[in-house]
Amino acid sequence: MAKTRWYKDAVVYQIYPRSFCDSNGDGIGDIRGIISKLDYLKELGITCVWLSPCYKSPNDDNGYDISNYRDIMDEFGTLEDWQEMIDGMHARGIKLVMDLVVNHTSDEHEWFKQSRSSKDNPYRDYYIWRKGRGKDGKKPPNNWTSRFTGSAWTYDETTDEWYLHLFSKKQPDLNWDNPKVRQEVADICNYWFEKGVDGFRCDVITYISKEEGLPNGKWNPALKGDEHFTIGPNYHKYIHELNQRSWSKYDTMTVGEGQGITIDNAEEIVAEEREELDCVFTFEHQTQVDSFIVTVPKKFNLVKWKEIFSNWQKIPSNCQNSLYIENHDYSRSLPRYGKLEYRETVGKMLAISVYLLKGTPYIYQGQEIGMTNIDNFQPEDYKDQVSVKIYEICKKFGLGKIAIWALQRKARDHARAPMQWSDAKNAGFTTGDETWMMVNPNYVDINVEESEERPDSLLHFYQKLIKFRLGNEVIIKGSYKQYDAKNKKVWVYERALDNKKYVVVANYTDKQFSYTMPDELTKYEKCVVLLHNYEDGNNKIVKKMVLRPYEAIAYEIE
Ligand code: GLC
Ligand code: CA
Repeated sequence: MAKTRWYKDAVVYQIYPRSFCDSNGDGIGDIRGIISKLDYLKELGITCVWLSPCYKSPNDDNGYDISNYRDIMDEFGTLEDWQEMIDGMHARGIKLVMDLVVNHTSDEHEWFKQSRSSKDNPYRDYYIWRKGRGKDGKKPPNNWTSRFTGSAWTYDETTDEWYLHLFSKKQPDLNWDNPKVRQEVADICNYWFEKGVDGFRCDVITYISKEEGLPNGKWNPALKGDEHFTIGPNYHKYIHELNQRSWSKYDTMTVGEGQGITIDNAEEIVAEEREELDCVFTFEHQTQVDSFIVTVPKKFNLVKWKEIFSNWQKIPSNCQNSLYIENHDYSRSLPRYGKLEYRETVGKMLAISVYLLKGTPYIYQGQEIGMTNIDNFQPEDYKDQVSVKIYEICKKFGLGKIAIWALQRKARDHARAPMQWSDAKNAGFTTGDETWMMVNPNYVDINVEESEERPDSLLHFYQKLIKFRLGNEVIIKGSYKQYDAKNKKVWVYERALDNKKYVVVANYTDKQFSYTMPDELTKYEKCVVLLHNYEDGNNKIVKKMVLRPYEAIAYEIE
């Protein structure tokens, strides 16, 4: 089937279903909750939803541990609810991209139950089993570590062997070298495509192929083994095969979570003619401030940030990158990149400077109203197993206080707090008395209802920006040029296509100062303000521009 590649002009909104909206008062978000907010999404203007996993799951990792790929998690509803949800999305011109978590399953998946039951079970080879090392086999088969701390292997008494899990021990890795596993994955994708799904966000997809012999990883203080399974030996073969058996048969979009993907290998991963993935998420900009999971927060460095985004703008036109600043795996963006006293100004500045670049934008639920981290979060409030594990390990070494300090800044939990709909009890997220995780107390001031009523809110700004962006060829495929790359305070770039030229100027600091604009940008006949996070001032580009805290402006010049 010929692909329309609709994702090149889409704006995606990520829903983390557990925290989006609860319809039945049990304190857990669900599908009928999503249905009740479809008009909100339509109003926001997004054209696609990425839904984090909603399949059957014992919720060891909030749905990223799937026990049945063809059914809906009990707490979230039924397949009928799901059908109503996707029909409601399609009726509003919104596509649905589901999460495809197939590097691993839940240990409660039927395949794994069979697999662990005996060495000659037909499902044995669906997973990766090995004998232990050492005289009595009591040492794990190699030194690989789980991304969620500890060894990547768990011993199983039934058959006296160990199984591999790059995440928690309740998330055993599938053995992609087994052709049956690969066919199962293609069948699962086709099952959902037949139901109308428009694509998949492919979870940790670059980890699927492990090097033969599973050799020990080189020394690394935290994560060992990466070099033996990140874009492993058969990665391309397996993804191409899956593309041929499933993804290419529908007008789909697939976006890969990009561990190990940089601008240097992006083409290998997503070039259209390879018929593998369509789009990619990089971690490059994210990890320079907030590395995935284990370490303490790093200091934001604008020069590096600009360099990474600018490099990604060089991606060839037969490839597609993604633009994001938040998702369910990181703390909220606002405190990371700016001071909270300027909360909405920072939010708008980030939106202008990142979403006018080339690539498919992703907005994470709550980002559009400027939700923040939870102040003073305490260890007992953490729900993410990773936060809990990190705290416990640190406490053992007398580092409990440092762990609390770090987690208060970077735990994944912050992004998973319930969506703040109104100033009603529990932020209007539920009608019940309890919520599965705490609501950020600042919901009284920061919520959708308040944002809808106030014309200058971040929410209205997002609506405007999305409208401006959709169908805009300058943004979708125009050229990119950065100015003053070494400037530590300001990001200045230009986007151009044919005779149209946009200029973006963004002050990433909380200070006001006079900025000398590059000469080339001060020569024009006409200058129009397209988007601006201050009410007035700076209505044209001049040689010396007084930029206020976090001021960002997009101009069109002629
Ligand atoms: C991805 C998901 C994350 C999950 C992990 C294991 O990184 O985004 O939430 O914990 O994979 O599935
Ligand atoms: Ca519910």
